[in-house]
Amino acid sequence: MISPETDAAPDARRVVVLISGNGSNLQALIDTAQTKDGLSGANSLGGEIVAVISDKAEAFGLERARQANIPTLTLSAKDFPSRETYDLQLARLVEEQQPDLIVLAGFMRILSPAFVIKFHGKLLNIHPSLLPKYKGLHTHRRALQAGDEEHGLSIHFVTEELDGGPLILQSKVTVTLDDDEASLASKVQVQEHILYPIAVRWFLQGRLQLISNYPTLDGKPLPIQGVLYQENPSN
Ligand code: GAR
Repeated sequence: MISPETDAAPDARRVVVLISGNGSNLQALIDTAQTKDGLSGANSLGGEIVAVISDKAEAFGLERARQANIPTLTLSAKDFPSRETYDLQLARLVEEQQPDLIVLAGFMRILSPAFVIKFHGKLLNIHPSLLPKYKGLHTHRRALQAGDEEHGLSIHFVTEELDGGPLILQSKVTVTLDDDEASLASKVQVQEHILYPIAVRWFLQGRLQLISNYPTLDGKPLPIQGVLYQENPSN
């Protein structure tokens, strides 16, 4: 069981975050949830993070969650004979939380179709590339090796196709001659920490929906590449 009990308001929209590592995107979401919206006084995320689940016990994101008094749980793949049995238990734990939204924030496991289908339409992922470019791992290295002048990140609904679900938001960064993998990753992460809270807020406010595999924002279909974030999208 996850403990301690969350102190979320009973009518708050419920968010479960899945992580594997540092959890800087989780931190951006926590910080937003701890900020009050000036006009309404509501929390700026539009909901509460009710649980953080990691597949790695050593993930620093778990410490970030504990610091914010968010219940945590580790589910190690070593304890399960297959991806399917792991995902079955993960789905049980997630469902116990009765989430409105599940946010993958650096969760570095491929999810089985059964898991993805169960949570269809309420599963978001962030990926460090301008999808459909560079699905999978080592995205910064691959962008540098290709000599790309632009790189970036994508936020998308998760479907059965790895890193292939409908796009919601993208942001570009410029690749400079002195960039290496680490500097490029840092540039991308600055943008990630701005954009993920925006996408989560859109969803929790009911503005962002996935309707038969097509994402809509305020009832209008999103462009195929999602919204390109430049300065202040309507947030
Ligand atoms: C983020 O850059 C995210 O885009 C990436 O992992 C990092 C997690 O950082 N996700 C993927 O590569 C998923 N395919 P964080 O733990 O500091 O949030």
